[in-house]
Amino acid sequence: MSLPKPTILVTGGAGYIGSHAVLALVQTGYQVVILDNLVYGHRDLVEKVLQVELIEGDIEDRLLLDHIFKTRKIDAVMHFSAYTYVGESVNNPDKYYRNNVLGTLTLLEAMLAASINKFVFSSTCATYGVPKFIPLTEDHPQNPINPYGMTKLMVEQILADFDLAYGLKSVRFRYFNAAGADPNGLLGEDHNPESHLIPLVLQTALGKRESISVFGTDYSTPDGTCIRDYIHVCDLADAHVLGLKYLLQGGNSEVFNLGNGNGFSVKEVIAAAQEVTGINIPVKECNRRPGDSPILIGSSEKAKNTLNWQPKYPGIKEIVAHAWQWHQKRHK
Ligand SMILES: NC(=O)c1ccc[n+]([C@@H]2O[C@H](COP(=O)([O-])OP(=O)(O)OC[C@H]3O[C@@H](n4cnc5c(N)ncnc54)[C@H](O)[C@@H]3O)[C@@H](O)[C@H]2O)c1
Repeated sequence: MSLPKPTILVTGGAGYIGSHAVLALVQTGYQVVILDNLVYGHRDLVEKVLQVELIEGDIEDRLLLDHIFKTRKIDAVMHFSAYTYVGESVNNPDKYYRNNVLGTLTLLEAMLAASINKFVFSSTCATYGVPKFIPLTEDHPQNPINPYGMTKLMVEQILADFDLAYGLKSVRFRYFNAAGADPNGLLGEDHNPESHLIPLVLQTALGKRESISVFGTDYSTPDGTCIRDYIHVCDLADAHVLGLKYLLQGGNSEVFNLGNGNGFSVKEVIAAAQEVTGINIPVKECNRRPGDSPILIGSSEKAKNTLNWQPKYPGIKEIVAHAWQWHQKRHK
């Protein structure tokens, strides 16, 4: 007789990274239940592509969480749901502290009440703030420079405290810039409003935007534009499956960077998009934005060594090509 498959509650599973993680979980043989309030998530992708149970609801709804945990045997929780717009977090910090911190606290309390003690968390390189050295390793000081980053740091602290006090084991993943799309074209990035470089560049290629703005061309980088670490969303999804396995096998709480280790400048990303699409993409050079670091590149050696994770798609052209395939289909 085969053992029942572990069941994972995925919050934010109708969003960009969460949906790719759900696909990877299902393909690995896990059962998945998604909890998403659909403020930014996509019902059609869950119903048509992922075909797993979708509970439309909010992580701040304790009664709903208790009901979910009473009526299903959930083995672990993967927590993607959050608000993610850095600029908005500066203007509306209350919205971010409520959803990202209070919402997560409500979820964790409901888990403890239901004796569920395994948790995979989406943290961010934004918790590091201004880099003191490159590549950023997990022991780099954490001094976020905006409320969004601070909400993620607060949850990281809550998780460390909950492990000590209640034995809640967590893997905290600090992602760099998630990018790309499912190589088979089933899923991809569809944020509204969009704030990420690659989709903005591709929307410009599709004629949905007049030009792509490049903020700062006088940084101390080889071509003067900012350099970022773009990690393919499917590589992120694979890392989540490995992180979950690690916890289910009794692993201790850990924090891991998830990045590509290769930095690409804004100009390099635009050049890759021109090559992939064959379209000349109009560029508007603008002043620097306050708070942008010239270079952000992460070291993911710890995830590679501990989880045996290896990014499959480290090249920018492949990342952009997968995103382009999705954008042509979704936004034509
Ligand atoms: N995209 C990136 O480059 C990046 C980088 C670092 C960290 N992260 C983190 O990864 C996670 C996923 O990011 P994403 O880009 O997929 O964002 P996304 O907006 O596409 O997905 C988030 C999902 O959470 C849902 N959600 C939000 N608040 C909720 C609530 N209170 N209850 C239930 N559902 C709720 C939204 O509807 C959405 O489907 C976030 O926690 C984000 O902070 C993302």
